[in-house]
Amino acid sequence: MQKEVYRASIAHPAQFTPAIYKHFTVEPITGALGAEILGLDVAANLDNPEVAEEIRSALFEHLVLLFRGQALERETLRHFGQLFGTLQRNPTVKKAADTDDVMLVRQEAEERFNFSGSWHSDVTWGRPPAGETALYAMDVPPCGGDTHFANTALAYDALSEEMKAMLSGLKAVHSLEVSQREFSAKKPNDADADVEDVVDLFAEHPVVCTHPVTGRKCLFVNEQFTHRFVGMSEEESCPLLETLFRHQVLPDFTCRVRWQPGTLALWDNRATIHYASNDYPNIRREMMRVSTVGDVPVA
Ligand code: SIN
Repeated sequence: MQKEVYRASIAHPAQFTPAIYKHFTVEPITGALGAEILGLDVAANLDNPEVAEEIRSALFEHLVLLFRGQALERETLRHFGQLFGTLQRNPTVKKAADTDDVMLVRQEAEERFNFSGSWHSDVTWGRPPAGETALYAMDVPPCGGDTHFANTALAYDALSEEMKAMLSGLKAVHSLEVSQREFSAKKPNDADADVEDVVDLFAEHPVVCTHPVTGRKCLFVNEQFTHRFVGMSEEESCPLLETLFRHQVLPDFTCRVRWQPGTLALWDNRATIHYASNDYPNIRREMMRVSTVGDVPVA
């Protein structure tokens, strides 16, 4: 009997026929997700609601947007993030001076520990998780330190009907503790002073969530924060979780972002996961990040 192989159905059609936007041009990065936004000065357009609406549409179409050559300050990054919702106060990592919502994502030249070195979407241990994240590159290596993204709606679509049926109704436990204890031990200078108060936080979310805007179903588990299925032990959960973790990062579902100083990335955590490469020894990398308070994930 011939073995059946379930693969992604080539690509998200939007990547090949992107919508026409009035205020900028959209250039898809891969067939799976991601787009460069050309011809837009973000800081100069923060008060233009038509531009904000177009950026939102492009985001839900492409899931990861890149705006190159932007000159943003802490406050303009906050303002940009607020176009998409209320900013989340993430209690894990130190913030930029005088803010409680602009996280500093940085690796000093002598450090080896990588802040985002396992696949995740932001704050899935939270109730609710992050919605959108904006990450602005200030100091980045000339090469290395790329961020990889995967489209979890495509990953879901590519599962067999039998697997989809098995996952429907399952919930998973997402917790901060393991990754935060490692972060605090290896980067004590970057851990937020309040983190001990929240390290026990966890949340239960459906394994398959429906995107509140697009209505697409997305796999909602990630190797950094998801430890087991609700009602099962870690040992019982491990084989299926590992299968899903491997499946959702197949190259067909991904794009890779190379940073330059002044690159601003915006992504939708509801339908993507990401991973930062740790391949730039002895070079400093520093970014500023804001995230919005997302929606409570529903099946
Ligand atoms: C993050 O996970 O928010 C940061 C990703 C990166 O450092 O590229």
